[in-house]
Amino acid sequence: MAPDQPESSFKARTFIQTASEALDKLDTWSQITDDEVAMVADMTRRNEISGGTPVVRDFEKAWREWIGVKYSITTVNGTSALYSAYFGLGVGPGDEVICPVNTWICSIAPALLLGAKPVFCDVDPETLQLDPADVRAKITKKTTCICAVHLWGNVCDLEAIMEIGREYKIPVIEDCSHAHGAKYKGRMCGSIGDAACWSLQGSKALSAGEGGVIATNQVDVFERACLVGQVNRVIGIDLVGAKYEELQPLGLGMKFRAHPLGIGIATVQLRKLDELNRRRKAYFEEMEAGLSEIPGLRPVRVYEGAERGGYYAFPVIHEPKKMNGLTTDTLIAALREKGLDVNRTGYPNLHTLPLFAKGFDIFTRNRGPLCASEGYTGYKAGDFPKADLSYDRTIFFPRLSNPVPNAVRIILDAVKRVVDESSTLTAAKA
Ligand SMILES: Cc1ncc(COP(=O)(O)O)c(C=O)c1O
Repeated sequence: MAPDQPESSFKARTFIQTASEALDKLDTWSQITDDEVAMVADMTRRNEISGGTPVVRDFEKAWREWIGVKYSITTVNGTSALYSAYFGLGVGPGDEVICPVNTWICSIAPALLLGAKPVFCDVDPETLQLDPADVRAKITKKTTCICAVHLWGNVCDLEAIMEIGREYKIPVIEDCSHAHGAKYKGRMCGSIGDAACWSLQGSKALSAGEGGVIATNQVDVFERACLVGQVNRVIGIDLVGAKYEELQPLGLGMKFRAHPLGIGIATVQLRKLDELNRRRKAYFEEMEAGLSEIPGLRPVRVYEGAERGGYYAFPVIHEPKKMNGLTTDTLIAALREKGLDVNRTGYPNLHTLPLFAKGFDIFTRNRGPLCASEGYTGYKAGDFPKADLSYDRTIFFPRLSNPVPNAVRIILDAVKRVVDESSTLTAAKA
């Protein structure tokens, strides 16, 4: 076991659905330790397994103090946190919501289900984050929200996005699902937008197994978020104002409340997050220094003043021309053959999905924001050239949390061998 590894009597594989043997060999981090097990066991013995228990309320308090916001609540997952935040901000039928074309579908799906039309914007190919110039170009009189995703644990150009929001009086939601603990110009990501959401799903840096959090400084956003998904919250105990008093405690009757045992796990993980981020940062920086010496591989850019957090994935930009014409597909296949867990993104550009490309009669009988009868025109190939280019040339390297001592060398050596072999091949052909 590497030094400083949190004590554990076992090693739990990193998120079980994506765990691979190749990763297990390079990473000794145990996502779950004896501390999480003890927390869940204690809570279960106390029958603290349902409702807004003390552990849940303490976690929400710790979260708002950590992020530096006035209000926060937990939810059953990040998607319902986003649903609550969109609802909190008053997103509804007839509205348009701007969102990067490359993100997980759950960043925008809740707005769609609230009746709003998703309007995609292109990405900055150097950072893979949403492109502020395209956000500005997509604003119409119907735009009621911008979803600023901090994708892969990097931070989007928040200053530019917030400036656009202020100029047009359009609220911004920060989707921090990949970026737990990221900062921008000294402030925590999640404290800058009008509302923020995190996923605490199993693959995230801070996990509840499944869970989510909403944070905001705006009392009305908080109370509306509680109204839509936190049935049985009570004025004077859980809620701040009296504006929606006659609708409480039942609110709108929907229930997105988090499972307390998940929040128990997340409580333990919140204590370990700084340490995890420190380890991942050191690994990313060592890898990036090595990769930048290999022509044709370029780490993604980090905006000035941004500090990554969560480190959800490790994207690297590949330039075939600088690598003897070795295509991205060939490079990935060759690296995989050498035993490295290297992939393309699992996130398709959303405009390519039939749902958004062609539209869909969401509410049946030709109703809803993706219906031609309501003016939806769909998307076609080529609408987002920078996102397409990024999709084609981005490679995801293993994201390690507690690498074995020679992990970086093993990975970089494999890359160098593939590059050398490709140049030998090219030379032989010439
Ligand atoms: C960027 C982003 N937003 C939102 C979500 C939704 O979170 P959850 O899976 O917890 O519902 C995810 C999940 O991976 C995500 O990656």
